[in-house]
Amino acid sequence: MKNIKTFITQDGSLGLYNTELDEIYHSKFGAKKEAFEKFVEPCLILDNKPLKILDICYGIGYNTKCAIENFKNIKLIDCVEKDEELVKKSPQFEYDKKINDIIENNLKNPEFIHFYTDDIRKIINISDKKYDIIFHDGFAPHKQPELWSVELISKILQKLDKNGLYCTYNHSKPVLRALFENKIYIGKVIKDNRTIATTASFNPELIKNPLSDIDIKELETKSAIPYHDWNLKLSSQEIINLRKEEVKNSKLQTLSSLKKQK
Ligand SMILES: C[S@@+](CC[C@H](N)C(=O)[O-])C[C@H]1O[C@@H](n2cnc3c(N)ncnc32)[C@H](O)[C@@H]1O
Repeated sequence: MKNIKTFITQDGSLGLYNTELDEIYHSKFGAKKEAFEKFVEPCLILDNKPLKILDICYGIGYNTKCAIENFKNIKLIDCVEKDEELVKKSPQFEYDKKINDIIENNLKNPEFIHFYTDDIRKIINISDKKYDIIFHDGFAPHKQPELWSVELISKILQKLDKNGLYCTYNHSKPVLRALFENKIYIGKVIKDNRTIATTASFNPELIKNPLSDIDIKELETKSAIPYHDWNLKLSSQEIINLRKEEVKNSKLQTLSSLKKQK
């Protein structure tokens, strides 16, 4: 795989590293562990009905495979990944043969898993299907801000059922702000007293650890200024430059001065 190296993560499962972007695809603390703790476990609350899942940034499929392993009744999974080579190779990675065979068979002959190998910014417009669960696993916002703009998140959330859950490992302020501007309830996934991921839903009953008043106040500071990609066509650099300019001209309070006030 061009520009991609492998490494062993702390739970023994294989992780990928992109040399060009200087970005890891999987947590060094455990690729399999991450898929379960940050994506699947927070959604187990929905495991009482046939589930429709959208897996954005499928990579080599840890989140989809972990979902197949843990949910009782999956109706369909739509997987979106720009790098076709990763998708084709995904049945070779981790998980047992039974799960990898399901991926392999659905790649050859899609039954309940469908693969879309293109930019999520194009794919997100092609259907008006609603999903019970949406996994959003893009690279870090400062590397690929196009995956985290207010506008893309808005399109993604339009695909979320009103009783569905959106999940991402990301809990940076600009991403939380982009969710907040889309008028959705936001929760923290907490492990060992640390926030490790984010959930969001239009149904507040599905949110386990809602953002506190202080968390929400912090979303009104300069640090939380989100990324914009008005027509979903800007380059990463253009999006970064737009945000830099907005931060520079902003009269909002800084996060550090807000923290000093407390
Ligand atoms: C953090 S990795 C995701 C890891 C993945 N969930 C897995 O289990 O292997 C981010 C992925 O997003 C993909 N990606 C980057 N930009 C994208 C885009 N605009 N549309 C769709 N996928 C994209 C990358 O190719 C990469 O595989």
